[in-house]
Amino acid sequence: MRLMSNFKTIKALCFLCIMASIKANESSEVKHIFELLEVVPDVIPSAPNQFLKVTYDNALEVQPGAELTPTQVKSQPLVEWAADHDAFYTLIMTDPDAPSRREPTFREFKHWLVGNIPGNDISQGEVLAAYVGSGPPQGTGLHRYVFLLYKQAGKLEFLEERVGNNSRNGRPKFRAAAFAEKYGLGEPVAANFYQAQWDEYVPIVHKQLSGN
Ligand SMILES: *[C@@H]1O[C@H](CO)[C@@H](O)[C@H](O)[C@H]1NC(C)=O
Repeated sequence: MRLMSNFKTIKALCFLCIMASIKANESSEVKHIFELLEVVPDVIPSAPNQFLKVTYDNALEVQPGAELTPTQVKSQPLVEWAADHDAFYTLIMTDPDAPSRREPTFREFKHWLVGNIPGNDISQGEVLAAYVGSGPPQGTGLHRYVFLLYKQAGKLEFLEERVGNNSRNGRPKFRAAAFAEKYGLGEPVAANFYQAQWDEYVPIVHKQLSGN
């Protein structure tokens, strides 16, 4: 037990050191943080080369792997990248830790999915699943919320049911990697993630999701 908690402390310290030394867009740092918190291989088979810039209300920028609260992430964030303006992109946000990281029997929960984004104008993309914030159930610990950006080879026809922000349809047991494979998206060109655990905003998210 003592050994285990020491190990956890060391892991936490490593994490802090890495956070302190992160320089955005350094591919070795991206790789390290994605592997340390096991987004690789739980969600994607290999780490992307670039961080994706994600900003929530009140200029709150997502620092890779850092903890945010469900209250802070309740509204759709700004996601920015240096786009090729002739290209289309797909953006995915997914939680591999449903209902918990220990027993992820519903891995993954689809939080947001927008395809055919022209350049970096998300508002002009096709919303396949509308954004819903984090709703980690009470007592299930930290969940990882992963943003993945894919560059499409061309405009795509998505054969997916469209899901509003008041519906769970098609959200549990999603697999970002399988989706990417189905539509030939290749590997993500940029990614980011935060972690969150239950707070008093979660019941509101759950109510919203069963509201249709
Ligand atoms: C849900 O979607 C509706 C319609 O687009 C929007 O007005 C509302 O703000 C959204 N709610 C949340 C919590 O994102």
